[in-house]
Amino acid sequence: MTAVVSAAPGDGSSILPGLREIDDVGRDATRGGYSRHLWGDAELSLRQWFVSRAEALGLDVETDRNANIWAWWGTPGQDAVVTGSHLDSVPGGGAFDGPLGVVSALDAVAALQALGVKPARPFAVVVFAEEEGSRFGVACLGSRLMTGKTSGDAARALVDSDGVSLASAGNRAGFDVTHLGRDQAALDRIGLFIELHVEQGRGLIDLGEPVAVATSILAHGRWRMRFSGQGNHAGATLMTGRRDPVVAASRAILGVQDIALGVERAGEVARATIGRSHWNPGGTNVIASTADVWLDARAGSDAGTRALVAAITEASQEAATREGCTVSIVEESWSGEVQFDVALRSRLSGALGGVPALPSGAGHDAGVLAGDVPTAMLFVRNPTGISHAPEEWASAADCAAGVEALTSILRSLLVEGAAAAPGPGGAPGRLAAPGPGGV
Ligand code: HGY
Ligand code: MN
Ligand code: MN
Repeated sequence: MTAVVSAAPGDGSSILPGLREIDDVGRDATRGGYSRHLWGDAELSLRQWFVSRAEALGLDVETDRNANIWAWWGTPGQDAVVTGSHLDSVPGGGAFDGPLGVVSALDAVAALQALGVKPARPFAVVVFAEEEGSRFGVACLGSRLMTGKTSGDAARALVDSDGVSLASAGNRAGFDVTHLGRDQAALDRIGLFIELHVEQGRGLIDLGEPVAVATSILAHGRWRMRFSGQGNHAGATLMTGRRDPVVAASRAILGVQDIALGVERAGEVARATIGRSHWNPGGTNVIASTADVWLDARAGSDAGTRALVAAITEASQEAATREGCTVSIVEESWSGEVQFDVALRSRLSGALGGVPALPSGAGHDAGVLAGDVPTAMLFVRNPTGISHAPEEWASAADCAAGVEALTSILRSLLVEGAAAAPGPGGAPGRLAAPGPGGV
């Protein structure tokens, strides 16, 4: 059903033919892995690749007002079964985060067509834009715009690290940014959304299983922390009396680690990371005038995340004061905790013969959509347990198990009265073909 190409362990390339086709797109020679950012050359060629692959399957492709791409099998309509993921990456990201879900969706369509399936309800594969928020800083931007969680005006005003606004980047890419925002018509068409994704933790490794369904997503957000001091000459300025924002930021970063580790050691879920910084002006022989660091903070609940950020804010203000600096903290992105539709998740798990159910520390477009339409996620084992890094990997056998699981679920949903074929290692289950507006 799915021709898989075996690859050496740790080789993040070409496990599925579809991944092989894009294996060299957006490789980052400096960081390793891939850097594929919204409307950059690599992402634009991935968009073209997706359109040609979808059209080769006879799907009708359109790009919506928020730069998300929809490939319809048959006439678009209400109560559609939708699956897909994203193609953009973090800087130096792995080969599977996003593309595995897109390639698996296309392979599932090919498998269903080979079985002679004619969908009894509308069906689409979707590619969401800027899921990583790596260019413009807001995670899941395409799905957040579609659901209205981010407004068109706010999105148009976003700027990348070169100071290029989203509006001008979109115009340069030939995309009309004037209609960004909640897309009720698109949402009304979705009966349910299922996203297949490489697992980004160790859950399936520890369980010894190839596939799982998702139970939840941590609450998570991003904050820009700007420390301001006094720029000056590195050689002519005494150490005594400096107001060096980089030193203040460095003390704060250690505080981020200590606070989150303390919460985790107390038995609660807390994740806090500083993965991005910018010193202004950034000269080797210059004491910076401002130091920006970006905080990614997550916890098991909205309140827990807010409490974590409050503690980090207090510690950062103390760090700034100690160095004679000030600090301003601006929220750039927020996604509340997600609990996936229990009935849908249990039905998927049952239909696959009882695969395990795992929480997700990573955010996904499925999480953003969960507030508007029934959504579910399938995870495929990642034997490295590493993601957002070049080592991210999934074996040929597990990729095939993911495609088979997705295919059998889609068959159950698209063919009246169909029973799911046996899932990975399980007895056949059955996903009742939903009625209009049902799932
Ligand atoms: O940041 C995340 O959790 C996701 O990979 N965008
Ligand atoms: Mn990611
Ligand atoms: Mn992802």
